[in-house]
Amino acid sequence: MTESLLMIPGPTNISERVREVMSRPQQGHGSPEFTEKFGEMLKLARLAFKNNNGTQFAFTGSGTLAMETSVVSTVQPGDKVLVLDTGYFGQRMASINEAHGAQVSQLQYPLGMHADPDELRARLRKENFRAVFITHVDTSSAVVNPIKELVAECKSAGAFALVDSVCGLAGEELDFDRLGADIVFTASQKAIAAPPGAVLIAVSNDLLGYFQKRAKPIEGWYLNLLRWKPIMDDPKMYLATPAVQIMLALREALLELKEEGVEERWRRHRNLAEKIREGLQRMDIEFVAEEGYRANTLTGFIVKEGLAPDVQKELRASYKIEVARGLGDYSGRMIRIGHMGILTAEQADRAVTSVCETLAKLGVAASVPVPGGRTRNPGT
Ligand SMILES: Cc1ncc(COP(=O)(O)O)c(C=O)c1O
Repeated sequence: MTESLLMIPGPTNISERVREVMSRPQQGHGSPEFTEKFGEMLKLARLAFKNNNGTQFAFTGSGTLAMETSVVSTVQPGDKVLVLDTGYFGQRMASINEAHGAQVSQLQYPLGMHADPDELRARLRKENFRAVFITHVDTSSAVVNPIKELVAECKSAGAFALVDSVCGLAGEELDFDRLGADIVFTASQKAIAAPPGAVLIAVSNDLLGYFQKRAKPIEGWYLNLLRWKPIMDDPKMYLATPAVQIMLALREALLELKEEGVEERWRRHRNLAEKIREGLQRMDIEFVAEEGYRANTLTGFIVKEGLAPDVQKELRASYKIEVARGLGDYSGRMIRIGHMGILTAEQADRAVTSVCETLAKLGVAASVPVPGGRTRNPGT
């Protein structure tokens, strides 16, 4: 019997090893067995982030909690912040900042375009910002932003650089120590291939020092990285009950990542992405992300208006493959295929063949221009 294949951009497939860990008898969150494993998980997370210099945090929540915790800990009400809006998750970041009283400016890009370091430099010359928020891979467009160049611009302008790598880390190259960002965060359920439920946040020493000397103390309680610091230093301490099984599963998934090798996992993701894009190019489709900035973790393409639900339904019914549609305005005309985590080359081949057959059967591929055009439209 054909196995079901999850190819949405997270949560991703999890291994039998990870599933087995979650089915063991409950451990106490303060037991030596668990706290020791939690400490090991944090060390493994450092490997995944390549974070030797900063502080590594992990606690229960989804990627959105990592976004909000980063904002609440870093931004004081009234602070000026700049959000690079390359899609849905950039917009969410702007909205979270607004909810916490920041003065938000945005550099906005049509869906499918990357954030331009030259435009960022020009903007940072005109105005001072406390922080700049960058999405590594925006999951709504499948664009990978040039984070090295973008972070470098922030640092030379004296702004904190905060990177949302929920859909990047472990699938795209990222070296926290070399990058020089102040925060990089991810969530458990994407390229790390653990179940949803945990956030991982790396914080620079500069930013940690700033948390302590802010004019106004951090207003959040659970969303306050300073409050979590003692627990990360000594996991035997209690702040709030962690999702024990999720943390154990995350440890196991990070162990699998270590065994594969971080660089090898990046390479495998690059190969899978190339295989999938090459395969799809046989059909008359248009990728949403501009060439040169296509992510290794997911691929998005346009189909005829209103027909994306049919493609999704057919893939589910005839091929047992689950893909995602576009977000917001794009839900009827875009298909997103996740290729993250423990996906194999054989599974990627199966997905390409199934998608191509489906597009041919339904006649829905469309090389129509992405609405909104391809011209840059940076906001103010
Ligand atoms: C880039 C990015 N940021 C943030 C999030 C939010 O994560 P969550 O849905 O786990 O809250 C997602 C989710 O897909 C994402 O892809």
